[in-house]
Amino acid sequence: MRILFSMTGKDPAPWISAIRRALPGADVREWKEGDVDAADYALIWKPAPAVLRNRAGLKAIINMGAGVDWILELMASDPDVSGSDVPIYRIEDAGMASQMVEYATYATLRYFRRFDEYERQQREGIWRPLKVYATGDFTVGVLGLGSLGAAVAGELATFGFTVRGYSRSLKSISGVRCFSGSDSWESFLEGVHVLINLLPNTPQTSGVLNSRTFSRLERGACIVNLARGGHLVDEDLVAAIREGQIAGATLDVFKGEPLADDHPFWKESRITVTPHISAQTRMEESVDQVVAKIGEIELGRIPTGRADVSRGY
Ligand code: NAP
Ligand code: GLV
Repeated sequence: MRILFSMTGKDPAPWISAIRRALPGADVREWKEGDVDAADYALIWKPAPAVLRNRAGLKAIINMGAGVDWILELMASDPDVSGSDVPIYRIEDAGMASQMVEYATYATLRYFRRFDEYERQQREGIWRPLKVYATGDFTVGVLGLGSLGAAVAGELATFGFTVRGYSRSLKSISGVRCFSGSDSWESFLEGVHVLINLLPNTPQTSGVLNSRTFSRLERGACIVNLARGGHLVDEDLVAAIREGQIAGATLDVFKGEPLADDHPFWKESRITVTPHISAQTRMEESVDQVVAKIGEIELGRIPTGRADVSRGY
């Protein structure tokens, strides 16, 4: 079995060793410029397009992260990239859900306990206790109830917040009021204090965090974008913050990464920027999952986590 590995931003050596340990009979190689040889499996994260271009033999492409948007964009822009005829699988959770829960909980508690306001007060030397919210009166909306969003919504419900979740198909999660479909979109948004985005980036969800969405939320709501920069209309956020409809935002993902030096988000004190770290692909859990998926495929079965190209995620 020939496994081609290419993960931008990761040191390949420990990954390749871990895959070799888990699949001792496999021929595992790191992709290098000029490698056009056949492979059975491509284990990739944002590699050079040549990794996928006209690659013979592929039984599956395994996306070493949750979002497959970048592969689908590459396939659409480069007709020589393999993909339309090869199944694409993605990593499901594998340690990412707990990281998302930590990040989303921190951001929600920061806004709920008004630490963002106390940080600003401290900078100005102001000693002023602010009104305390009751958890049940504080509504958190989670967009996307998949591997990551469902975990975040379920955990936030345990704090006693009023939690709502929105997905394409209707879900049932303990402590969470679930919504689906465009008819319930406005009721989902109405009165939300913190809106957390964990949708995949697709033609349907691109730009969903816009001024119209913001206007439906509670005045002074906060936005937490953990999914993709393409979901957010940057100018709408800056305008809504200046106008007061949105009180603050915590952003982990951006249209262009790294965020450009002159981007207005850097200078807006009500926006917190982190460098796409809310949930990282963990090696051990991910290798275990990849090996299990390959095992299923070799037995002629279809493992979970197959991206539906027509749906975009
Ligand atoms: P997932 O399991 O595929 O879940 C996606 C959720 O979004 C599902 O509940 C799905 O509904 C819902 N959805 C999709 N299109 C929709 C639409 N048009 N309207 C309403 N709901 C829609 O994905 P995941 O593993 O939770 O990951 C979510 C995203 O997080 C990834 O795509 C990626 O962009 C982002 N991410 C970011 C980081 C980071 O470090 N910042 C790390 C990992 C992932 P159904 O349940 O009905 O299908
Ligand atoms: C990270 O952004 C992922 O999609 O896994």
